[in-house]
Amino acid sequence: MANTILVGAQWGDEGKGKIIDFLTDDADIVVRSQGGNNAGHTIVIGEKKYVLHLIPSGILRRGKTCVIGNGVVIDPIALVGEIEGLRACGIKIQRNLLISEAAHLVFPYHQALDAQREALKGSNKIGTTKRGIGPAYGDKAARTGLRLCDLMQSTTFPEKLAKRVRENNIVLRSLNAKPVSYKQILEDYQVAAEVLRPFVCNTVAYIHQAMSKGKNLLFEGAQGTYLDLDHGTYPFVTSSNTTAGGACTGSGVPPHRMDSVIGVMKAYTTRVGEGPFPTENEDLGNLLHEMGREFGATTGRARRCGWFDAVATRYASMINGIDKLAITNLDGLDHVKKIRVCIGYRLEGRVIHTPPIIASDVDKCEPIYREIPGWNCSTTEARTYEELPLKARKYLELIAKLTGAKLKIISVGASRAQTICT
Ligand code: GDP
Ligand code: IMO
Ligand code: MG
Repeated sequence: MANTILVGAQWGDEGKGKIIDFLTDDADIVVRSQGGNNAGHTIVIGEKKYVLHLIPSGILRRGKTCVIGNGVVIDPIALVGEIEGLRACGIKIQRNLLISEAAHLVFPYHQALDAQREALKGSNKIGTTKRGIGPAYGDKAARTGLRLCDLMQSTTFPEKLAKRVRENNIVLRSLNAKPVSYKQILEDYQVAAEVLRPFVCNTVAYIHQAMSKGKNLLFEGAQGTYLDLDHGTYPFVTSSNTTAGGACTGSGVPPHRMDSVIGVMKAYTTRVGEGPFPTENEDLGNLLHEMGREFGATTGRARRCGWFDAVATRYASMINGIDKLAITNLDGLDHVKKIRVCIGYRLEGRVIHTPPIIASDVDKCEPIYREIPGWNCSTTEARTYEELPLKARKYLELIAKLTGAKLKIISVGASRAQTICT
């Protein structure tokens, strides 16, 4: 498999977790390199559904190593909860998990600031997951963040934390928010530190050693291209680089060691949170929600739904260097009579094929659709490409052509078996 980066090509929740779990069979090491527990990656094995937030989705396969890289922001309390939750389900977590000592930490004051900033924005809110992700990455960029290596140093951590709590409580009070308790945070984080200590190391050195032994690496993107801090629909984005380049900076693996980029996309589009979404369609949303689908894995919010947007995925393909596509949730369209695909935008009378940079301009874009007939039967039992209805194959080939990459994986259900390789 060589070294493969997997990215979301839309607004997140494309089904990355399912595809990572599937591909991990051929990988040795799975690496998360950005984001935090704002991510929610769902994997269904038999009757059991797992939702992973910080731990890479490769953890459910025996004999594989999972790495949380330096680019991830870690809420230690949430991470310990996730480790314990998996252990309670019989998943072994010992030497198969490594956590970068350089990863920045998320603290309760980040969560409080996240919530308060959202409240102050009123109708302009981003619709964040309120996990403190923006403020934690903000501290990292401002060089005031604390890292896992700080937490591991029991003697110096209390004083470093005290300084950060002091400053953040001044800000919280000035925003009319409740200050956080230094004593409580120290106590909770010191307990978490001892649970995490055995996993903490220099993951860059580990990864490079593994590469020199010819191990295959799989980089698990979190969020999606249009939530990228630089390339997404700013400010309605997350605070990390969710695009392929983020896999390099967030893991310490240089670009020339990456062999392939897989873009994961749904056969339609979803978005959770606020911000522009040109192909949003309420009827399609109602249909999917009535089927019990498209509710957020992290916050449980109903996802906004819309048609496949080839303007967006083509641009995503360009930014990420996507050479292979994994198209998920094809079965979501099984009973849609007429399916629409966005092939261009009309913005103030002009036809454009590149998403505008300004969010309010994206908001003004009217999609230009091509309509194609639906296949009107179930795809969930198909196990080979040939078993898919001809109209479904035509649809997949159309979106691959418009996106500009090769079809590699098609997913027709949440389980491992419902995965077709072309
Ligand atoms: P991620 O954040 O990209 O990992 O995606 P999420 O797990 O948040 O959301 C994807 C949802 O779609 C989850 O509920 C998955 O179990 C589900 N899923 C993934 N692929 C398929 C598919 O092909 N068909 C169906 N029905 N569900 C799928
Ligand atoms: P996965 O990895 C979908 C969205 C939030 C909000 C914006 C900013 O499961 O695909 P944040 O809490 O990051 O500051 O929120 O980003 N968002 C996601 N949407 N899937 C995700 O992750 C997301 N992570 C963040 O809804 O709009
Ligand atoms: Mg998700």
